[in-house]
Amino acid sequence: MPVITCIDDLKRLYRRRVPRMFYDYAESGSWTEQTFRENSTDFAQIRLRQRIAVDMTGRSTATEMAGQRVTMPVALAPVGLTGMQNADGEIKAARAAEKFGVPFTLSTMSICSIEDVAAHVEKPFWFQIYTLNDDDFNRRIIDRAKAAGCSALVITVDLQILGQRHRDLKNGLSAPPKLTIPTMLNLATKWSWGLEMLGTRRRFFGNIVGHVEGVSDPASLSAWTAEKFDHALNWDKIRKLMDMWGGKVILKGVMEPEDAERAAALGADAIVVSNHGGRQLDGALSSIRMLPEIAAAVGGKTEIWMDGGIRSGQDVLKAVALGAKGVMIGRAFVYGLGAMGEAGVTKALQVIHKELDTSMALCGETAVTRLGRHNLMIPKGFLDGFA
Ligand code: GLV
Repeated sequence: MPVITCIDDLKRLYRRRVPRMFYDYAESGSWTEQTFRENSTDFAQIRLRQRIAVDMTGRSTATEMAGQRVTMPVALAPVGLTGMQNADGEIKAARAAEKFGVPFTLSTMSICSIEDVAAHVEKPFWFQIYTLNDDDFNRRIIDRAKAAGCSALVITVDLQILGQRHRDLKNGLSAPPKLTIPTMLNLATKWSWGLEMLGTRRRFFGNIVGHVEGVSDPASLSAWTAEKFDHALNWDKIRKLMDMWGGKVILKGVMEPEDAERAAALGADAIVVSNHGGRQLDGALSSIRMLPEIAAAVGGKTEIWMDGGIRSGQDVLKAVALGAKGVMIGRAFVYGLGAMGEAGVTKALQVIHKELDTSMALCGETAVTRLGRHNLMIPKGFLDGFA
C-alpha cells in the first residue's frame, strides 16, 4: 500500500489507474477552464492566522448539516458516472461516507441505482435530482428516492443546459465506453480497472436505463442533457419539485445573493454556493469568492454551504471561517475512489479530517463551530475586487 499523505497523492494514483475518458470527465471544467482553476487557486490566496499557547485538548470537528450530525462539515457531492471511476463506485463511496459519519449524495447520473445503493448501506443517504422537462420521470424518481429512504433531496439548479467540456467531446464520453481504437488502446493499459469492471453488472446509468424513454443515446450524458433538461426552468418549477419531495431540500448551484434570497424564501434547508466545479459557466467567479457575500445576504435564513476547489482540510477551514456551515467535495473523493476503491474514499476523508483538525488546533480553535473571519488573513481586494 503506497504512503498517502495528501489528496494529490490519491490523484496521481487515480490518473494511473482509471481510463483517460473518465479521468478527463472528472478533471475538466467548461471551455477555457478559468473558473475550474480559480476555484482552487483562490483558496490558496487566503491565509490562516496562527495562534499559540491555547489549550488544544478536547477538539471537535463535529457539527450538523441540514440537521444531520456529521463527523466534520463535509458531505460527498453528487458526481455523475462515479461507478465508472471504479466498479460499483457509488456503493463503495456511500459505504465509506457512512462509516466515516459524513453524508453521501447519489447523483441521478450514477451507475449504481438508488435501490442498489440503498441495499448496501444501513443509514439514509441523500439523492440528487436535475431539473428535467419530464414530470413523469421527476415524480417516479422522487418516489423511488422516498421508497429507498433518502433523507434529503439535493436539487441541482445550475444545469438546464450543459457547459461544454472539450475533452468529453474529443473522448466520445459514454457509459460504458464505446470501444473505439483509441479507447481500446487506453483501456489496455488499465487492466485492474477493466478486471473489476468485468466483475460487475453495474456498467450503465442505473437510474435511467429502463426508466426513461425518448433519449437517442442512453449511454451519453450529452444526449440525455440536450433532450431531457428543462430549458424553461423557473422558480415555480423548483417549488413544484420541492413540494413533490416534501422533505429536506438542498438547492445546489447558487452564485448570486439575489438568487440566494429566492432560494431561501422558497424554504430550502440549505443552499450550496457552487459553480458546478467550474463545469458550467466558465468565467464565473470562484465559489469561495462568492461565499461571503451570499452568507451575508441570507446566512440567517438558511444554511449556506459551498463546493468547488476543496482539496484539503485547510480549504474546509477557510470555507467554514468565511460563513459556510458545511462543504461538499466531489473530485477529492473521486480521486480516492479511482485510486483505491472504498479504502481510497476513506483515505480521502481521513486526510481532509486530519488536516482540518490539525490546522484548527494551530489556529487556536478547539471547535469547528467557532471558526470565523478572525482565523483568516485575506488579501486586499479579494472579496470586493470585482463589481
Ligand atoms: C453533470 O452534472 C456534470 O457536471 O457532468
